[in-house]
Amino acid sequence: MTPPRINVGLVGAGFMGKAHSLAYAAMPMFFWPPPAIPRRRMIAELNEELAAEAAERFGFDSSTGDWRELVESDEIDVVDISVPNDAHPEIAIAAARAGKHVICEKPLARTAEEARAMYEAVTEAGVVNLVAFSYRRTPAVEMAHRLIAEGTLGEIRNFRGTYLQDWSNDSDLPLSWRFQRDVAGSGALGDIATHVLDIARYLVGEIAAVSGLLRTYIPDRPLPSGQSDQLAAAEKLAGAPRGEVDVDDEVLTMLRFESGAVGSLEATRHAHGRKNFLTFEVHGDAGTILFDYERRDELQLYLASDPSDRSGFRTIFTGPTHPYGAALWPIPALGIGYGETKIIECYELMRAIAAGGSASPDFKDGYRIARICEAIAESAESGEWVDLAPVAHAGK
Ligand code: NAI
Repeated sequence: MTPPRINVGLVGAGFMGKAHSLAYAAMPMFFWPPPAIPRRRMIAELNEELAAEAAERFGFDSSTGDWRELVESDEIDVVDISVPNDAHPEIAIAAARAGKHVICEKPLARTAEEARAMYEAVTEAGVVNLVAFSYRRTPAVEMAHRLIAEGTLGEIRNFRGTYLQDWSNDSDLPLSWRFQRDVAGSGALGDIATHVLDIARYLVGEIAAVSGLLRTYIPDRPLPSGQSDQLAAAEKLAGAPRGEVDVDDEVLTMLRFESGAVGSLEATRHAHGRKNFLTFEVHGDAGTILFDYERRDELQLYLASDPSDRSGFRTIFTGPTHPYGAALWPIPALGIGYGETKIIECYELMRAIAAGGSASPDFKDGYRIARICEAIAESAESGEWVDLAPVAHAGK
């Protein structure tokens, strides 16, 4: 049977535009037969010229300098929102109202109020919706989920997560959108801590209360000279006029889960030597697991039931027998990369659309995470723990 075709409209051709385009092209090469074949139909950028170049580069059939044209096009089935955070709500709500399925990059929005409106719009429209918390797609993270769900670790007591990077230590890096509250919403909190919050909820369950601390180390940065925000090639602007950084550089938080488990999370873009140090350790009464994204083919497992004279962490190298492994590469430890996580995400999106089902994490999860972020910021302000009420269902 020929898989159905699903027409994708991608908004934004930066870092994530590249990652998502690669995934649309490659997904059926890995997952065969695929639930559906994504067709790269239309791409939108800030103007016609940028969009035309992006279409050429990323293999899209057509391009537009206005995302509204893409959202309104009868040819588009799913709208992919890969632009900075301030543009997520307007595009997502318009796409849902036009009856399009939506995948939106994280964080879902700058504020919980915006995220709530997006959640309501997709629920009202009955369209598939997915938030791109892609790190949970790493096979070793999925394996951690499997081990916990199977009860291998016993009752979960503690989740310890970090997401540490060091790219923003240079005080002459330009004031890109990631340092501006009116575009990004928050700093390390929304940008990277949200990935760990997603994994914490995925592995251990809902977060009931938080106690947080936020710090900003570099209060101003040179005003950028152009649009470019490629992290790896950030221009040096020493001596240029400077603008205010009004977001956090670092967040620390303690977590209380609904299950009774406790946890902690640290995220910063200022930890010298840490490049993409997304880690978690989960302690149960029967064992421990440990994951480090910088060694993402590996999951460390410690079982309390091992005889004491040979107990210790063992290394599981993910491969064909692990989640999604059969579709990826035939040899364990061959190397899972960022690209594969986006390919798996694309597979999950296409599966949900083809089956007429739902995807996970969805906009309700994105909204909940936005509320958790606001609670962390509120706690950092007041010095008090903040309790989180359950999310009420939207619409239908
Ligand atoms: P970027 O700055 O590299 O690219 C954004 C692109 O969107 C630029 O090319 C810009 O010209 C374009 N754009 C901006 N406004 C637009 C509009 N109104 N219409 C059309 N195009 C527009 O940003 P990046 O890193 O790709 O981030 C985009 C989103 O992806 C953000 O929400 C970010 O938080 C998220 N992200 C997610 C990651 C993940 O691991 N899931 C990793 C990096 C970013």
